[in-house]
Amino acid sequence: QCLEDQRSLLFELKSDLIFNSTQSLKLVLWNQTQDCCNWDGVECDGVGHVINLQLDGEGISGGIHNMSSLSGLRYLEKLNLAGNDFGSQIPSGILNLKHLMHLNLSDAGFRGQVPIEVSLMRRLVTLDLSYKLGYNSLEIEDLNLKMLLQNLTGLRELYLDGIQMSSA
Ligand SMILES: *[C@@H]1O[C@H](CO)[C@@H](O)[C@H](O)[C@H]1NC(C)=O
Ligand SMILES: *[C@@H]1O[C@H](CO)[C@@H](O)[C@H](O)[C@H]1NC(C)=O
Ligand SMILES: *[C@@H]1O[C@H](CO)[C@@H](O)[C@H](O)[C@H]1NC(C)=O
Ligand SMILES: *[C@@H]1O[C@H](CO)[C@@H](O)[C@H](O)[C@H]1NC(C)=O
Ligand SMILES: *[C@@H]1O[C@H](CO)[C@@H](O)[C@H](O)[C@H]1NC(C)=O
Repeated sequence: QCLEDQRSLLFELKSDLIFNSTQSLKLVLWNQTQDCCNWDGVECDGVGHVINLQLDGEGISGGIHNMSSLSGLRYLEKLNLAGNDFGSQIPSGILNLKHLMHLNLSDAGFRGQVPIEVSLMRRLVTLDLSYKLGYNSLEIEDLNLKMLLQNLTGLRELYLDGIQMSSA
């Protein structure tokens, strides 16, 4: 069963996100009166902590305005925001999710430098920052790539297709 604080964090996140309710198959159905561990795109551990959030292809646009809800979901091990149109930098709040093992931000409309703090997410096994569809404006500098790889010793899959890389 979903814990109360997890439910309210999820609901705050839903209220904060702008999404196209025609395209959305999950967020649009989140219903306060039901156990949030049964909400589409949400998975909990045995205690009721949300450990998996799959919000790929939900027609989300316009960024995350208040990160406190997402970064409050601190037990998350898997986060998928792929195939949306956030149109912002990768929010630093995501990087506070220290239990994350699988992070998928592919084709999610994030732009700018990939923050170096990604290298502090020590448990990452899979990191997908690739752009396969539209024009990509995520950038990574070679120094950052070096830092990224140095400390992410558990990383097994890294997808950087379509990312702009500079090298000295
Ligand atoms: C929402 O998605 C539908 C289906 O993809 C699309 O036809 C519609 O134009 C979108 N609405 C907005 C406001 O983008
Ligand atoms: C939420 O679920 C309850 C019980 O299943 C239902 O009566 C209610 O209409 C639902 N609300 C929304 C907004 O879907
Ligand atoms: C963000 O949301 C949290 C929790 O709902 C709230 O306490 C905080 O004031 C909000 N911050 C902003 C800048 O709106
Ligand atoms: C990331 O999510 C997209 C969209 O759901 C999917 O196609 C892709 O395979 C995922 N990447 C990884 C590494 O699983
Ligand atoms: C790697 O981890 C060490 C020890 O935690 C830290 O001192 C160092 O700054 C990290 N390096 C990078 C490149 O993040």
